[in-house]
Amino acid sequence: LLAACIRSVGGGRTIVPVSGWRSRAEQQAIWDDTRAREGDAFTRQYVALPGCSEHQTGLAIDLGEDVPDLDFIRPSFPDSGACGAFRRAAARYGFLQRYCREKEALTGIAAEPWHFRYVGAPHAQLMEEHGLCLEEYVPFLEVSPRLCRLGSGRTARVSRLPCPSAVLELEPPAGCWQLSGDNCGGFILTVWEGEP
Ligand code: DAL
Ligand code: ZN
Repeated sequence: LLAACIRSVGGGRTIVPVSGWRSRAEQQAIWDDTRAREGDAFTRQYVALPGCSEHQTGLAIDLGEDVPDLDFIRPSFPDSGACGAFRRAAARYGFLQRYCREKEALTGIAAEPWHFRYVGAPHAQLMEEHGLCLEEYVPFLEVSPRLCRLGSGRTARVSRLPCPSAVLELEPPAGCWQLSGDNCGGFILTVWEGEP
């Protein structure tokens, strides 16, 4: 999906992967090295604590504009050209810019225009349409189920199911559906409506 999104904006020659999956040991090494070179305040702004980085899940990637001496911690990823077009197309492919300036107080990380997180198309699109970061998404779904019109023409219905006891009993919906844990004591149910 990432490659398809890059291709869709003609970014094959300009957009390069900078950092994808990291082990905890790699995150620790990046943390230690950045702290030694740039100090504590900078490191806390731009490097997640070892054990807390999305890179360790394999669901996040840093992308850069292919320029000489690309910075590993803060790669250039402007809002113009193929990079800007990628950012605008990303949600349709399920990716979101995870750390935005206006959400710094909620994410605890400084704006990172280069860091993209895969969450899946209905979720990325809903967050983009409603101006939400991931921290705001579960509370948003708690209010009511949400509908998302996908590029395929299908509609996805996304609901949060609280799970106050150890067992969740669910009548399987008709058609195509997916259930994911939400790390907040509940589940997110996504149902794709209409024909594929
Ligand atoms: N740069 C991001 C916050 C990380 O280290 O996961
Ligand atoms: Zn990153």
